[in-house]
This record gives sequence, structure tokens and C-alpha cells, in this order.
Amino acid sequence: MALLEVKEISKTFTQKKKPAHIVLENMSFNVEQGQYVSLLGPSGCGKTTLLTMLGGFMLPDAGQIYLAGKKVEGPGPDRGFVFQNYALFPWMTVKENILYSLKVQNFSKKEREQRLQELLDISHLHGSENKYPIQLSGGMQQRVAVVRALASRPEILLLDEPLGAIDFQMRELLQEELAALVEETKTTVVMVTHDVNESVYLSDRVIVMSANKGRIIQDVYIDLPRPRSRQSKAFKEYVSELTDLVRQAFREGESERRDDIPFRHRGVDNIFVASYNRMHSKYTNVANGRSRAAK
Ligand SMILES: Nc1ncnc2c1ncn2[C@@H]1O[C@H](COP(=O)(O)OP(=O)(O)OP(=O)(O)O)[C@@H](O)[C@H]1O
Ligand SMILES: [Mg+2]
Repeated sequence: MALLEVKEISKTFTQKKKPAHIVLENMSFNVEQGQYVSLLGPSGCGKTTLLTMLGGFMLPDAGQIYLAGKKVEGPGPDRGFVFQNYALFPWMTVKENILYSLKVQNFSKKEREQRLQELLDISHLHGSENKYPIQLSGGMQQRVAVVRALASRPEILLLDEPLGAIDFQMRELLQEELAALVEETKTTVVMVTHDVNESVYLSDRVIVMSANKGRIIQDVYIDLPRPRSRQSKAFKEYVSELTDLVRQAFREGESERRDDIPFRHRGVDNIFVASYNRMHSKYTNVANGRSRAAK
């Protein structure tokens, strides 16, 4: 049995005076124990919506999600969650942030202290435990957010663009740290990202979602040894294949939204490149598949 089973889930948002917006329709996929799965897709295709439902913070309108055979009906300590932009509690120190979920779960003081030391070790945050998030660099805040999510030893780690706010030099370094951290803790991961390069570097599988009802365009297995070399031919081939798929994903959404506009005026590819790059130009150069763009 797969650790995570997503069975034909759908989600529609309704707002006053607006047509209902079907974000996800009949989506199904499984994640095996120990797998690192990335979700890649254009902005607004429903990645955060999906992750939020995996976290149990929101329920699907139809379909079910099972974690270790148990139906997900609300949030729980079996899932560690890092939100988009990783929202640490600014009024708590690093130590308090990390220990928060353990306090909620009534771990003893001794267990909490032991776990804190373990987590400070693997995240190289010793010496910073009494600082507040505002006193840390973006990369350090990100590490705190990830180890906080790992504190309760969750079955699965759900990461929503955990490196999204970090500049690209630091980003590659943190990708390496994240890979090591996950390897060490043997945690199963579902991660949302916009960065094709990042998804190939970290994942066993990359699921490409369409802007049209979150349709899974392709589920790509990344068959590369670890640690991965970004310079290898095979790595670059995966980046190129996935970039094409994301392009297709964007196109599906555009054609759906822009049916009223004659095709010759849509400039679909230009729209894709412009929009995708505008949002993520600092991190992802879609044109050549490298995560080194504007300096
Ligand atoms: N609570 C909500 N009420 C109404 N619409 C919502 C709500 N949450 C999300 N949406 C809409 O659902 C769609 C998917 O949003 P979601 O945040 O899941 O996208 P995303 O793929 O994570 O995008 P991004 O890459 O920009 O983070 C968007 O069009 C968004 O406006
Ligand atoms: Mg999102």
C-alpha cells in the first residue's frame, strides 16, 4: 500500500457574482514511502490548494486522501507542513519555533530538549537557537521552517515552495542541504516548486500539473544517482523535458481562459515565457532550463 493515496479529488471555489472555478478535478496519484515527489505547474493551477488538502487544512469537495491507510480529515502531527514563504512565528525564538509542535503534543521536557538538539545538529543552527526570525538570513529561516516541520517526526513532509523567497546562489546550496536533511531523516516529501532545475535536483518523481483543472500532464520519474550533478547530460535532459511539459501545462490553461480571443492574437508561447519568467526570473531561466537567470 502506498503511504499517500490521493483518490479522484476535486475542488471548486465559488465566489459571489463569479462563475464557479474548478481548480482540481478527479485528481489521483500515490506516493510511496520514502519518495520525494515534486509538483510543478503554472501559477494558479492548484498546487497550494492540493497541498493544503494533503495537510488536512481544507477538505476536497469529492474524493478522498489517505495517509498510511487513514483518511485525512483534518491536520495532524503525521504531516509536517512548510507554508509558501514559510511563515515562522515572528514573536518566538528559533528554539520556541522548533519546539512549538512538540509542546502542543505534550512531549516531556526531556524529550523536547533531546529533539531540539538533534534538529539543531542536522540543520546547523546551533548558536542561533535564541534568535528571533527577523535576526536570521532567509536561508536560515527556511532551515528553521523545515526542521520545525520535522520536529514531530511526521510520516510526510509537505513543502510549499520552501525555497521560493531565496536568491539563486543561496538556493542551490539550500537544495543540497534539503536533500541531505531528507536523506538523513528518511522522510517522504511532497514539494511544490516553480523551479524545474530544483525539481530535478531533489525529486524521485515530478508531477506536472496543468493550469486546466489541475490535470496531471505527466508523472516523470527522475532516474539519476544521488548526489546529483546539475552539469550532467542526463540532468539537463530532464530539465529540458520538464520545461517543455510546463510550457504545455501553461498553454492548456491559457487556451481554456482565452477561448474568446482569436488564436493568432494569443501569442501563447510569448505569454508563457513572459509570465513564467516575470514571476520567477530570479530563480529560473525557462528558456535554457538553468536556474541562473538575471544577475
Ligand atoms: N480560498 C480560496 N477562495 C477562492 N479561490 C481560491 C482560494 N484559494 C485559491 N483560490 C484560487 O484557486 C486557484 C489555485 O490557487 P493555488 O493557490 O492553489 O495555486 P498555486 O498553483 O499554488 O499558485 P502559485 O504557484 O501562484 O502559488 C487560483 O486561481 C486561486 O485564485
Ligand atoms: Mg501556491
